Amino acid sequence: MNKISNFKNQKGRNKLAVLTAYDYTFARLIDKAGADAILVGDSMGMVVLGHTGTRRVSMADMLRSTEAVARGAQTALVIADLPFNSYKTAAQAVSNGKKLIAAGAKAVKLEGGVEAAAQISALVKAGIPVMAHVGLLPQSVKSKKDFKVKGKDAATAARILKDAQAVEKAGAFSVVLECVPALLARKITQKVSIPTVGIGAGKYCDGQVLVMHDMLGLNEDFKPKFVKHFGTAADAVRGAFKQYVKETKTGVFPSVEHSFSIDEKVLEKIK
Ligand code: KIV
Repeated sequence: MNKISNFKNQKGRNKLAVLTAYDYTFARLIDKAGADAILVGDSMGMVVLGHTGTRRVSMADMLRSTEAVARGAQTALVIADLPFNSYKTAAQAVSNGKKLIAAGAKAVKLEGGVEAAAQISALVKAGIPVMAHVGLLPQSVKSKKDFKVKGKDAATAARILKDAQAVEKAGAFSVVLECVPALLARKITQKVSIPTVGIGAGKYCDGQVLVMHDMLGLNEDFKPKFVKHFGTAADAVRGAFKQYVKETKTGVFPSVEHSFSIDEKVLEKIK
């Protein structure tokens, strides 16, 4: 069974665990931890590149990271985001989707429901598996205050359900539900046959995805309600950096054990 069918088949059987990664080293660690998929997310715009949103991430950024993550992931399914403005038409989606697949992704993700159905169908027809993304769409967010829960009123909730059904019909193998109420996510999860992967969408989704930097606690200034810190990596990393600076400045590092030796006679010969 290929990785996409395997991922899809987990619906109703096992919960899916997905994390983002942007480089080789972390992709290896996540892969070895047993995650089902690694998302090369355009969240790199914020956590790697230091932008306030995802809209400045380019295809070149995505391709470089996808290549690195693909080198590190042996078992997990590698999914790469199509960045903002890279799938305005079906033809552009297919052209850029092919580039991400050539870089090592096994699937692509794009944002949008009903309005992205044509792009999803075209990608699937071209043999490129698609994970869709509905609810809060970060690429549509222009200011920080728009990062908020979606679907609390009946009209928006109905629209998000319709979006999920539209992406399923268009051929997506899975759909991310971002920042929607847990009971709405449950309803959507029951109504579609493809796995729902939630972020800020509660416990009833078929799986969960988190941005790696957030769940590690690396991103100290960012702790929205839906993020759980599974570690205190910022403390650990800062502690190690401080110790390095201190030991370097005081001459404790490097010691003999971290240095290479040479026979003194050899040194005499070069006088
Ligand atoms: O870019 C990303 O990391 C994402 C997740 C938040 C789902 O799209």
